[in-house]
Amino acid sequence: MTSLATYRRSVLHAAHLPVYDFLAPSFIQIPRASRVRYISTTRKLAAIPDQSSNTPNPGQSASSNAPSLKKPLTQAQREFLSQAFRVNQAGELAATLIYIAQTPPIVASHPHLRPLMKHMYDQEAGHLETFNTLLAKHRVRPTAMYPIWTIAASALGWGTAIMGREAAMACTEAVETEIGGHYNEQLRVLVDMVEQMEESGEEVGNELKELMSTIRRIRDEELEHLDHAVENEAKQAQPYELLTGIIKAGCRGAIWISERV
Ligand SMILES: [Fe+2]
Ligand SMILES: [Fe+2]
Repeated sequence: MTSLATYRRSVLHAAHLPVYDFLAPSFIQIPRASRVRYISTTRKLAAIPDQSSNTPNPGQSASSNAPSLKKPLTQAQREFLSQAFRVNQAGELAATLIYIAQTPPIVASHPHLRPLMKHMYDQEAGHLETFNTLLAKHRVRPTAMYPIWTIAASALGWGTAIMGREAAMACTEAVETEIGGHYNEQLRVLVDMVEQMEESGEEVGNELKELMSTIRRIRDEELEHLDHAVENEAKQAQPYELLTGIIKAGCRGAIWISERV
């Protein structure tokens, strides 16, 4: 009896938790569904049978000005977006720290690279701000590896810059190759998600469309950094294959861990 009473108390407590986020677990959303924040997916009324009628007519079409009902994201979609926001924030944090560490030694030995280093850093800082905002807005926790990535990224930036301009650019080439591919994979999942929504008669909300366009823009800027690195003789780094191989493997490992931890 004691455990049943404890269970009932916990359910009642959960029902009054102030959770309004579309990424919150569905068992918490159910009692407060009217106050949950959605990522603006809606289902057209025409797709829903008339519950008040004793003889439902699935083929009956609703009028064009019928009100829409919102539909929350599925558990799998929420988990995907939470992981994506978390790993993207970690990646952008690392990118800004790499450029912060690389810039003084590189600019000291190659002053003409100052505008390029600043340009790439400014874009990374913008990306980080974007994902900081998304994490805060949707109450997604950052990766627990945040302090470790901070040290690792600073060490990587400083170490490659000390090796020279080519090694610093090879670092950028390797990182952007992995990150560009990572953003591409996220876009592929989002495109599939949107196609499924459209096929099932749901309208795709502006928030999801804006997210896709933001990730597409950031992906393109990462690939622009990759081009700058190659133009600045990244492939002349010694030992190029070993250096870029280690950095790419490190990026893949960091992405895998940051999605989960
Ligand atoms: Fe970035
Ligand atoms: Fe980048």
